[in-house]
Order: sequence, then C-alpha cells, then structure tokens
Amino acid sequence: MTDAANASFKPRIFSGIQPSGGLTLGNYLGALKRFVEKQDEGIETVYCLVDLHAITVWQDPERLRAQTREAAAGFIAAGIDPARSILFNQSQVSAHAELGWVLNCVARLGWMNRMTQFKDKAGKNAEAASLGLYAYPSLMAADILLYHATMVPVGEDQKQHVELTRDIAAKFNHDYRTDFFPLPEPVIEGAATRVMSLRDGTKKMSKSDPSDASRINLTDDADMIAQKIRKARTDAEPLPETLAELKDRPEAKNLVNIYAALAGEAPETVLERFAGHGFGAFKPALAELAVAVLGPITTEMKRLMADPAEIDRVLGQGAERADAIARPILARTLDIVGMIRSRPV
Ligand code: TYM
Repeated sequence: MTDAANASFKPRIFSGIQPSGGLTLGNYLGALKRFVEKQDEGIETVYCLVDLHAITVWQDPERLRAQTREAAAGFIAAGIDPARSILFNQSQVSAHAELGWVLNCVARLGWMNRMTQFKDKAGKNAEAASLGLYAYPSLMAADILLYHATMVPVGEDQKQHVELTRDIAAKFNHDYRTDFFPLPEPVIEGAATRVMSLRDGTKKMSKSDPSDASRINLTDDADMIAQKIRKARTDAEPLPETLAELKDRPEAKNLVNIYAALAGEAPETVLERFAGHGFGAFKPALAELAVAVLGPITTEMKRLMADPAEIDRVLGQGAERADAIARPILARTLDIVGMIRSRPV
C-alpha cells in the first residue's frame, strides 16, 4: 500500500500497557505521559489495558484483577480523561482475540522467530514458554489494526512489534488484494523512550525486575522515591557539558534523561544547568522533581483505587465505545477472508 493510500485513514492513536505488575516510571515517561499529550492534542485516542497479553505469563487471578484496576487508576490519575479517550481492558472486547486468530494465520513463523522480546522473556527454556507468549506480537497487531489506528505511541522496546504489525497489515492487504488495513507508525519520541534500571544502566527499567530498588513505581511515596534515587547506581565523575560525553556512562545518562523527561526539557538543557556538579547535588534535585511530578499522581491514584466499582464502570463504558469501532472492522475482515456471516457479529 502506498503512503497516499495510508493518508485516507483518519488519524487515530492506539496503545496499550500490560497490567502484569504495577506501573513504573518507565511506563509513565515512555508511554503514559505521552498518551496524555496525544489526547490533549485532540487526536482520537484509544488506550487499552492488555489483560489478554498479561496472561501469556502466569498471573495470579486476584492480583491480575487488582493490577488492572490499579493501572486504570494510574491512567486517569496521570491525566487520561475517559470522556475524551477510550480507556478499557482488552478482554471486554472479544474482537481482539478474534482478529488475533485471523492474524495468526497471516503472520509467518519466521517473523515471530525474530522477535527479541520473546527471546528475552522466554529465556533459556523457550520450550516451556506458553504458545500465547510466542503469538503475542500478532495479538498486538490485532489490537492496533482493529481500530485502524495510524499511530502507536510506545517506548523503544516495542518498536519491533509495531514494525511487525506493519508487515502483517501489508501481507493481509497483499494476499487479499485490498487496502483495508493502514500501516501504523510507531511514535517514539522524547528524552525517555528507554528508561533504564536504577541498579544497572544497561538494563531496561521493568515491572518484572526482581529488585524493587531498580524501578520507581507509580505507587511509591515521596520517601521511597527519594530513597531509590539516592541509592541509584552512578559513577564518581561530575556531570559533563555535552551529551556525547555521557556515551559510556549509562547510569549517569539515564538519570539525566529521566530529569529531562520529568521537567519537559531537552537533556542538553539539563546538562547546561548541572555541568560540573556531582551526583551529591544532582540526585537531590532529581528526587525533588520526581516527587513534585509523581506525588500528585500517586495521591490521585490511591483516591481512585478506593472505589473499584467506579473503575469497573469506567472500563465497561470504555469497552462499549471500543467495541463500537472494533466490531464493524472485525466483521469486514471476516468478509474479506471469506467467512459466511449469516447472523449479526
Ligand atoms: P508494556 O506493558 O511492557 O509497557 C507499556 C508501555 O511502556 C513502555 N515502557 C517503557 N518506556 C520507556 N522505558 C521503559 N523502561 C519502559 N518500560 C515500558 C513500553 O514501550 C510500552 O509503550 N506489548 C506491549 C503492550 C501492548 C501494546 C499493544 C502496545 C499490547 N498491545 C498495542 C501498543 C499497541 C507491552 O508489553 O508494553
């Protein structure tokens, strides 16, 4: 499909977060904060708590439910307005699983074998990984294509999956001689597209890291945030004047990028201010900024979580609106593929 054909799709954003643990600063800076910016730019935005993706690895049922509500509270506390954005959990819109199956039949094994996240998550014992974990990227393609989304804001680690989504869409369009699906663009922007662990600057900050000190959780209170930043691994050098000089200092670079993203500044601007200062000065400034930005979100999240029935109501309404977009797109896909549909889908 040509770019000109892509232009015929109206701009729509889709993105998702797994409720497989608490939200981290990485999720906030790499995704959530940018989801809010996109909503506020007035683009149509659809955001999903991807619970079907979460169960590709074991989840305790009660914890999964609690984490899904907590993530929903995090979205709203961070500024997602459920009246303007569509906010829902994936399993309430069954079209995701249905389109996921069709796309399983479009995606090629060779493509799946190249997915680095599967290799990372499956680890050495890939034979013991679930089939769902392997097929995960084609369900993600279904999430996106089900809304004819044109843009997908994500952190750096999801780029390969969005590119695969484009390949799946292009193959579907080609095989069925149609231009039904757009080729969505990954939108990876800002200073914090890859927030690293506070304990190891070469590893991504992740909700699944066994060390809680490696990450800042959106539920951490001010003392905890300050303590984790104080204890973050760094080196003994003062901060340099240019970003290039941070090249071989991953921990220092990470903290500068976090500061920049929290302040809404360029990392260069942060260095202009702190060049020549050591971490004894920089860390307290970063802790103060982090608490100022995250504190109100944490407080609001806690308030929202006290009323789970209200969260469930919001998710249910979001799911109804999502379903209204997704159903006709699924129905048309099934027509294209050659399925008889003699009762309403
Ligand atoms: P997940 O749940 O791992 O992460 C959600 C979002 O947060 C971003 N992110 C980060 N960004 C910067 N630094 C970090 N350390 C960091 N950790 C996480 C991720 O890049 C992501 O944008 N497969 C997806 C969920 C998904 C999805 C989708 C996303 C399912 N369907 C459709 C977009 C569109 C995932 O596991 O994200």
